[in-house]
Amino acid sequence: MINFTLNGKAVSTEAPGDTPLLWVVRDYFKLKGSKFGCGMGLCGACTMHLDGQAIRTCITPVAAIEGKSVTTIEGVSPKGAYNSIQQAWIDHSVPQCGYCQSGQIMSATALLARNPNPTDAEIDQAMQGNICRCGTYPRIKAAIKKAVSDNGSNGSSGSEVAYYTPSNQLEGGNNA
Ligand code: FES
Ligand code: FES
Repeated sequence: MINFTLNGKAVSTEAPGDTPLLWVVRDYFKLKGSKFGCGMGLCGACTMHLDGQAIRTCITPVAAIEGKSVTTIEGVSPKGAYNSIQQAWIDHSVPQCGYCQSGQIMSATALLARNPNPTDAEIDQAMQGNICRCGTYPRIKAAIKKAVSDNGSNGSSGSEVAYYTPSNQLEGGNNA
């Protein structure tokens, strides 16, 4: 039995310890937002947060997360609202096919949690492991900059991100 926290809730799984975290989350807990791309840690489609750090879950055995905290794309915003990164993605119409986008947002969220005002080079560095076959990179970068700007103007910083309802009203909150 492996015990961990998933999107703020204490959970456990009897999956074999060498099962990749991605499959535990998708098949045991039925959270399908995180995607399988390469299965080799090379594309970023499977990105989640482990204790706040962006990790490649296709190559992370579930045994390695005992006692730790996992956040998926389903856990980075409250129900019925978007965080400021997701809102910026909408504002810039970032996704094309969409397959890579949950991983992109998870990497961007981890970046802004540890560095609320990244330089262009720091954005490039943080996002370089997330591949987009549709080539949405310019819109991803623009959206990250928009989220930085929005967070700054709303007084959010560090691990805090602003939350918006679908009607675009600021609600405030954090990305725990
Ligand atoms: S599916 Fe995990 S990095 Fe590609
Ligand atoms: S939007 Fe299609 S792979 Fe990124």
